[in-house]
Amino acid sequence: MSAPLLEVAGLAKHYPVKRGLILAKQIGTVRAVDGVSFTLQRGETLALVGESGCGKSTTARLVLRLIEPSAGEVRFEGRDITSLDRADLKAFRRRAQIVFQDPYASLNPRYTVGRTIAEPMEVHGVRDEASRRARVEELLRLVGLAPYHAERFPHEFSGGQRQRIGIARALAVEPDLVVCDEPVSALDVSIQAQVVNLLADLQKRLGLAYLFIAHDLAVVKHVADRIAVMYLGKIVEIAEKRALFANPCHPYTRALLAAIPHPDPRRRGQVTPLGGDVPSPLNPPPGCRFHTRCPFARDICREKEPALANGVACHLAEELPPAGLDFSGGLAPNAAKRLALYAKAAENA
Ligand SMILES: Nc1ncnc2c1ncn2[C@@H]1O[C@H](COP(=O)(O)OP(=O)(O)O)[C@@H](O)[C@H]1O
Ligand SMILES: [Mg+2]
Repeated sequence: MSAPLLEVAGLAKHYPVKRGLILAKQIGTVRAVDGVSFTLQRGETLALVGESGCGKSTTARLVLRLIEPSAGEVRFEGRDITSLDRADLKAFRRRAQIVFQDPYASLNPRYTVGRTIAEPMEVHGVRDEASRRARVEELLRLVGLAPYHAERFPHEFSGGQRQRIGIARALAVEPDLVVCDEPVSALDVSIQAQVVNLLADLQKRLGLAYLFIAHDLAVVKHVADRIAVMYLGKIVEIAEKRALFANPCHPYTRALLAAIPHPDPRRRGQVTPLGGDVPSPLNPPPGCRFHTRCPFARDICREKEPALANGVACHLAEELPPAGLDFSGGLAPNAAKRLALYAKAAENA
């Protein structure tokens, strides 16, 4: 098989925390991203899901090399992007674009929409000036806006429309990869589905790969092929979407799933929601980082950090009860079955 479009291995970003102005002394380290690995194939969507502060945006910035990693590798079509020279980095930037969370902050208020969308084409020398105009109109139609919108300014648009403009700008240079960093989190719930559907539709038409970031699983339920769940700078579970929804292995994944309101109100509230706050990524808890909030935690969880094996980083993955049921001891049949499937998939890969 050919190399994946994107390959991330052992990626980390640590920020030193200093005290004192002149002779600043390091008093700790924020482990914003702490050893993250995944792959993304052409045309595929990998969702990156986790609570605020778990390192999703930092991962996004590392993947696009907007910031430098403390450790690890990012490979795009097999080439390490941290070792690209200026020309190659520019070529990479054209092929990997981003859609930001805040459609209000990410557009220049003094630029017309047409100029906003044309700018990346100018930067990358895509098409001549005359055909850029036509391309802007084409892109506006593609995202569900109208050609005359090119003459307008961002303040004349709603949040959902601004996000469409942001998407058009990202697509202007015909990327292969689009990192969508919580693209609908700032939008009204009624608008969110429209923008998610647009992104899904564009993916089909244009063969895009998405790294799709969200803080809850509901948003990615339709758009994702695979899902990686992050907690305090690490991936705690990664699985094909169907498997993850049907058979979540990690207690944190289960908690995130339980947080999605069931469409049938009579079936809501069967699962205890997660208590407590996310600990600080400044000196995170020892052992499994999730142990301070985990209802199943034992001594080993407080002492030893679990490795990601067969898609799950949990000492108890093979013993937990089926999701949504009380712990009754013994091996959960579903979890065991899924782990066996993972092992088989890993053999075949
Ligand atoms: N430049 C920085 N300096 C210090 N800490 C940072 C910096 N950027 C992010 N962080 C910290 O790293 C953690 C992860 O941040 P971020 O990637 O933005 O999370 P998310 O996007 O999942 O909400 C947070 O605790 C955040 O405060
Ligand atoms: Mg973020």
